Amino acid sequence: MTVFANDALKDEHALVTGATGGIGSATAKVLAETGAAVTLTGRREDKLEELAREIREANPSAHVYTHAADLVSEEERGQLVESAANACGPISLLVNNAGISGGGPVENLEREDIERVMDMNYTSTVLLTQIVYESMKKRQKGAIVNVTSLSGLRGTYGGTAYAGSKFAMTAFTHSFALEAIEHGVRVNAVSPGFVDTDMGRKSAQKKADRQGRSLDDVIKDSIPSGRMTTQLEVANTITFLLTDAAANIVGESVKISGGSVMR
Ligand SMILES: NC(=O)c1ccc[n+]([C@@H]2O[C@H](COP(=O)([O-])OP(=O)(O)OC[C@H]3O[C@@H](n4cnc5c(N)ncnc54)[C@H](OP(=O)(O)O)[C@@H]3O)[C@@H](O)[C@H]2O)c1
Repeated sequence: MTVFANDALKDEHALVTGATGGIGSATAKVLAETGAAVTLTGRREDKLEELAREIREANPSAHVYTHAADLVSEEERGQLVESAANACGPISLLVNNAGISGGGPVENLEREDIERVMDMNYTSTVLLTQIVYESMKKRQKGAIVNVTSLSGLRGTYGGTAYAGSKFAMTAFTHSFALEAIEHGVRVNAVSPGFVDTDMGRKSAQKKADRQGRSLDDVIKDSIPSGRMTTQLEVANTITFLLTDAAANIVGESVKISGGSVMR
């Protein structure tokens, strides 16, 4: 279903991290359909090329650029932003979507589990944002969406590391939004519950295994709408937050959970 005009984001340049994954690839497609030039990044170059091909096949006039990078590397973050700006102009929209799951019950947590999850989901994301924000601030224009999680708003069993990193991103979103809006830059987050991606299915299955129940039962019981959120539903919400239709939405965490936030 198309909900946006094909020129809603024309003249914009969006950087989408985690574009090789479920939510990121869906978001990149919707942004391209909405007229934005799109830079796709992730570590897997073949996946980036495959997605770029798909976007160009659907829309031959789409402006798509790919740059593989490990966002945990300071050098690679810098190269990514520089090469994206050289290819498509200054980045005006940023989707901080790359993220990893990890950790487990607190008694089994190793220091490196905590550091690995915090480094990708929080520290590296903040540092990438800092570089992109510098040029948004100069131009007094931009919009940023952080993909946090329902686990960034409430406790999740076995989630002290992952949920910790997502709570940190929620706090970053709300605090940074206050600074950035003074410079014409809007910062928001989307906070999905279970999304139908590899990561979402694995984590729902983990919950089912722990409770000794079927995946279907767990989904029906924990999600009032009775199903996982689709990748496209998250992509559409991110895109909405990046358009001028959301011009006065600042510092929000938009929950997309089929109502499971209430259970
Ligand atoms: N699925 C869910 O149920 C759900 C729910 C709430 C929130 N979320 C959040 O939504 C985001 C996307 O999740 P998803 O389900 O689409 O997961 P996914 O399919 O596993 O995608 C994760 C993405 O992150 C990228 N990534 C991981 N480590 C990276 C690194 N060091 N450098 C650069 N890129 C890296 C991966 O790219 P490469 O492997 O190519 O590097 C991949 O594109 C994550 O932040 C996740 O926490 C997901």
